[in-house]
Amino acid sequence: KKRYNITLLPGDGIGPEVVSIAKNVLQQAGSLEGLEFSFQEMPIGGAALDLVGVPLPEETISSAKESDAVLLGAIGGYKWDNNEKHLRPEKGLLQLRAGLKVFANLRPATLVDASTLKREVAEGVDLMVVRELTGGIYFGEPRGIKTNENGEEVGFNTEVYAAHEIDRIARVAFETARKRRGKLCSVDKANVLEASVLWRKIVTALAAEYPDVELTHMYVDNAAMQLVRDPKQFDTIVTNNIFGDILSDEASMITGSIGMLPSASLSDSGPGLFEPIHGSAPDIAGQDKANPLATILSAAMLLKYGLGEEKAAKRIEEAVLVALNKGFRTGDIYSAGTKLVGCKEMGEEVCKLVDKMMPST
Ligand code: NAD
Ligand code: IPM
Ligand code: MN
Repeated sequence: KKRYNITLLPGDGIGPEVVSIAKNVLQQAGSLEGLEFSFQEMPIGGAALDLVGVPLPEETISSAKESDAVLLGAIGGYKWDNNEKHLRPEKGLLQLRAGLKVFANLRPATLVDASTLKREVAEGVDLMVVRELTGGIYFGEPRGIKTNENGEEVGFNTEVYAAHEIDRIARVAFETARKRRGKLCSVDKANVLEASVLWRKIVTALAAEYPDVELTHMYVDNAAMQLVRDPKQFDTIVTNNIFGDILSDEASMITGSIGMLPSASLSDSGPGLFEPIHGSAPDIAGQDKANPLATILSAAMLLKYGLGEEKAAKRIEEAVLVALNKGFRTGDIYSAGTKLVGCKEMGEEVCKLVDKMMPST
């Protein structure tokens, strides 16, 4: 039996609900493929603030670094919204990403079964957003709020990218596109921002090393429009931290709900971080209403990208597809004629189906 150490970071809001379900699904799929998991549950975000006064305790980051992979739910909530910047739950997540050096964030939008877009627009969509995750305006200096010479408050942040940061995320994107349909669209704002001018220059220069990949460029405002006009034109998208944050929430709606979109955050070496792209959804927390599929699919990405366990990953992906085809729907993707279920029931159904799947590979 192969053994893996997994750090679980449930976090806040619906985080604990969806992580406990994804853990069951992971265990189930693993046991069928001869994998044994040892889970270490650690606090992050608001939960950690309440417990020990910081959003990312030392024990949490060291457990994450020592594990084979990390599965996170979500962080944040009203209770901590007025905290100082360094005592916000979000800070804990950003510190975790920086600490694990997971610069490459893969956010796939594929299952369009529950899309609210017209069938002919959504059907067949299969796109991957490659988001830079440890740079850009999220981390750029200088930043802050100061009082200017007129005594007025001024808030400021800095969009900054070094050449090597662009180069390494672009390489991940070219490699990703190469394994998919060979099309890469780099999204920037090079008509206005210098950081984007450098971004475009470096991505363009790299294209020579990937003659099999067709590279195009698009401004982010146009990309936001094209994503809902004709999402099928996209295969792989590569973009910076903040544009990737926004475009991936938009891409999630092609699938029908933000509750469906998983992600993998990868570094050059060391454990990957796997998390749904959605937040802690405080409006529905604790009510068994959350869609667990984004976290379940993040567990599948953990198996595939984090551990190289493709068979177990496939079991989960197929089980999710079958559950959707059988009409199982949480509130966010419910429509007339389907079966409305809660978070737990959706999880139990996927667990049952994981048992029945016979992966073809
Ligand atoms: P959100 O993603 O939490 O919620 C947006 C809307 O989508 C809400 O109506 C929510 O109910 C719904 N939703 C989200 N996930 C769902 C799911 N799995 N099933 C069904 N419905 C779902 O975004 P927000 O409201 O802007 O942010 C809430 C908090 O979460 C904030 O504190 C924010 O900072 C934090 N946040 C954390 C992460 C993360 O941990 N990675 C991501 C985004 C936001
Ligand atoms: C996400 C979230 C985070 C981000 C926040 C909570 C820091 O929105 O994972 O998409 O902006 O990256
Ligand atoms: Mn986001």
